[in-house]
Amino acid sequence: MLTAAAVLFALAGVSGHAVMQDPVPRGTGPAQVELCGSALTTALEKDLAGPIEDAVAKADADYNCNAYLCRGYQYEDNVDNVKNVTAGEVMYFHIDLVAGHHPGYANVSVVDLATNEIIGDPLRSWGYWPNATSGPPRDDIDFNVTIPTNLGSTCDAGGKCAIQWYWYASGNEQTYESCLDFYVEA
Ligand SMILES: *[C@@H]1O[C@H](CO)[C@@H](O)[C@H](O)[C@H]1NC(C)=O
Ligand SMILES: *[C@@H]1O[C@H](CO)[C@@H](O)[C@H](O)[C@H]1NC(C)=O
Ligand SMILES: *[C@@H]1O[C@H](CO)[C@@H](O)[C@H](O)[C@H]1NC(C)=O
Ligand SMILES: *[C@@H]1O[C@H](CO)[C@@H](O)[C@H](O)[C@H]1NC(C)=O
Repeated sequence: MLTAAAVLFALAGVSGHAVMQDPVPRGTGPAQVELCGSALTTALEKDLAGPIEDAVAKADADYNCNAYLCRGYQYEDNVDNVKNVTAGEVMYFHIDLVAGHHPGYANVSVVDLATNEIIGDPLRSWGYWPNATSGPPRDDIDFNVTIPTNLGSTCDAGGKCAIQWYWYASGNEQTYESCLDFYVEA
């Protein structure tokens, strides 16, 4: 757990912050430390809602993962947090927007975790994010996503696909991501 002082320290001096809060997204664990190194992992853990670029800047020689795929969080550390969903199911998401002084764009997509390719079209896409005037309820941080009906067997087991929330704050060129593991039984 972060102390309040650590959170305040982490928030000082940077201008964007957001993370998926509901459902609970992927988090860290020993597999991430092994693959991404402890320097990057520690930097990410200091600020769960922080930009990936700040953590990559602190990475050491043990950095051997892709921090821009799910913040480097690994499936092996999250096997107990995989959603079993049905094609066409409507899922509700809440993003914890801590600070959004530099807007950009955002989207939600199904990602093939083996190739880091987006499958199909984005499930949601915002050309301007965050947008405080999009509600109430605010459509940018409280929204629904419909699980595609054409995934076939592509995402039929845990570890194959994730729903990735992605925000790129163009003003200060910072990337924010959260991933949710899911599968659709074929
Ligand atoms: C996944 O959900 C489907 C549909 O609700 C259900 O039939 C199936 O038993 C579930 N599978 C597991 C492993 O829980
Ligand atoms: C959606 O996010 C991806 C990164 O996952 C980004 O590369 C892409 O440009 C975005 N697409 C749109 C339509 O905003
Ligand atoms: C914010 O959302 C509102 C409501 O959907 C829309 O009318 C407005 O154009 C959006 N603002 C920007 C800058 O895109
Ligand atoms: C999401 O979908 C549910 C059920 O379809 C609906 O009750 C709810 O109002 C929707 N929420 C948003 C934010 O669109």
